[in-house]
Amino acid sequence: MHNEQIRLLKKKYGSDLAILAHHYQNDSIVEHADLVGDSLQLAAAIPDLKARYIVFCGVDFMAETAVVLARPGQLVFSPDPGATCVMADMAPGSLVSTILEKLNSHQKVVPLAYVNSSVEIKALCGHYGGSVCTSSNASRMLEWALDRGDKVLFLPDKNLGRNTAAKAGLDKKSIEILDVRQGGRLIDPMTLSRKKLLLWPGVCAVHFRLKKDHVATVTSQEPQARIVVHPECHPLVVDKAHEAGSTSRIIAFVRDADPGTTIYIGTEDNLVLRLKSRFPDKNIFPLGAGYCSNMAKINLANLCACLENLDPKQAVRISRDLIPNARKAVQTMLEVST
Ligand code: 13P
Ligand code: SF4
Repeated sequence: MHNEQIRLLKKKYGSDLAILAHHYQNDSIVEHADLVGDSLQLAAAIPDLKARYIVFCGVDFMAETAVVLARPGQLVFSPDPGATCVMADMAPGSLVSTILEKLNSHQKVVPLAYVNSSVEIKALCGHYGGSVCTSSNASRMLEWALDRGDKVLFLPDKNLGRNTAAKAGLDKKSIEILDVRQGGRLIDPMTLSRKKLLLWPGVCAVHFRLKKDHVATVTSQEPQARIVVHPECHPLVVDKAHEAGSTSRIIAFVRDADPGTTIYIGTEDNLVLRLKSRFPDKNIFPLGAGYCSNMAKINLANLCACLENLDPKQAVRISRDLIPNARKAVQTMLEVST
């Protein structure tokens, strides 16, 4: 019933409507999407979209990034504005602002935020001359940010930060995970003078559940199997995997593997399930359970209801004063890395 109604509404709106979906959406949603991609592909597509209505099937930071990049008159909708990202919520704007001010009183600290962060954080990055990144371009953006100050504050994902730093060959002694408790009072900028990379102590609750023991079990029981994981996983998981990369990189890894290859994938379940049905000539398994309950909040019922009511009052809104700096940070990423 919802499928039919969604098809009719898509027909009615024609080129005035674009439905975007992240790779972690389930197949029933992906089927209706005009564009499916990773965070970078979806963000990079926004400036070229002509549609008046953009319906974003993903979590809130993705829809907010679309608002930041949208043209005047374009409206962005989320089928469920309550689909948030647990990791993004680990870096509250006011605390990050206090800590950045404190750090910058001593040395130039350039903030680099994973796009899995609120629009307040993106605006702070723009304000302090930093930028944002996704898991596709974290290496390039970290190199960019390190060139711009005495050190970089990477937030909120300490795992993506550590994995990216390891790829860049940064000495572990030059990296510090900040203790952000007590409103940042425990941070002493003087003791951090020699550090090059400060990490916010956030993690993704989904990838956090994938442990080195999962990798060890596969490696010992099926030594011929290949393991590919998302870089939000712990460095001990990433180190032992054959490949780590964004959702698009994971898709490419599976696509390019020889027929008959056994592949364990460490990321969200919907993507693993899709790859399993898309590549029946390969033996695909999840490395462990990886269910993002927020991505799963988008369903056919709320997508249909959203399309039935593309009322400007229902559009995703962000505070106007945050837009210029947030846009500066996101556009810098698009210019530097695409
Ligand atoms: P990608 O940038 O790889 O699409 O990942 C987004 C995300 O939320 C992973 O948890
Ligand atoms: Fe956020 Fe993790 Fe879900 Fe991605 S998988 S949206 S990082 S909670």
